[in-house]
Amino acid sequence: MAGRIVVLISGSGSNMAALAEACRRGDVPGEVVAVFADRACEGISRAEGLGIDAHVLVFKDYASREDWSEALRDQVLKYEPDLVVSAGFMRIVSPVFVDAFPNRIINLHPALLPSFAGPHGVRDALEHGAKVTGTTVHIVDYEVDHGPILLQAAVPIEKDDDEASLHERIKEREHRLLPLACRLMLEGRVRVEGHKTLIEEA
Ligand code: GRF
Repeated sequence: MAGRIVVLISGSGSNMAALAEACRRGDVPGEVVAVFADRACEGISRAEGLGIDAHVLVFKDYASREDWSEALRDQVLKYEPDLVVSAGFMRIVSPVFVDAFPNRIINLHPALLPSFAGPHGVRDALEHGAKVTGTTVHIVDYEVDHGPILLQAAVPIEKDDDEASLHERIKEREHRLLPLACRLMLEGRVRVEGHKTLIEEA
């Protein structure tokens, strides 16, 4: 049976679309059953265009982060997800959300964690003068960009890169890495031990 995936987004949703396509091709034993955003964004229309249920829970419509996180948790729970994927979701969720999906939320970050955590991972790597950056998929815990690392891929920084060109190459890599991470999770091949993940060979 296909695993049920809920994707959280805030932007263009290209990773969500790549994941939905990988599911459709059969590369991931799952289906994107719903997409949630914290704001109106391109990814929401993209999800609708793909025939996926799409919802916006505007952060500012709620009295507190706690209230918003609870509302998001309750709506996501209705889809009974096996996996929750944060792909370009630019809001911090409260522990009430994380606790509802223990070790079943993964986040995609556009840098090689623990370097360049935070909302500007691409820009920070460039400004630091790094020669190599990349992307990380990790299990979500209570801290931002912190939980056990599942997969990483390196992307070299070219000398004439700007934030946009570098982010574009990182995203190309992410479009393959995220589906692979989802496949490993849905096949039950990921064990979390402390701050590490152990991946069972196929
Ligand atoms: C990705 O690069 C992801 O790593 C970062 O935000 C970007 C989302 O892009 N957190 P998209 O919305 O999937 O196109």
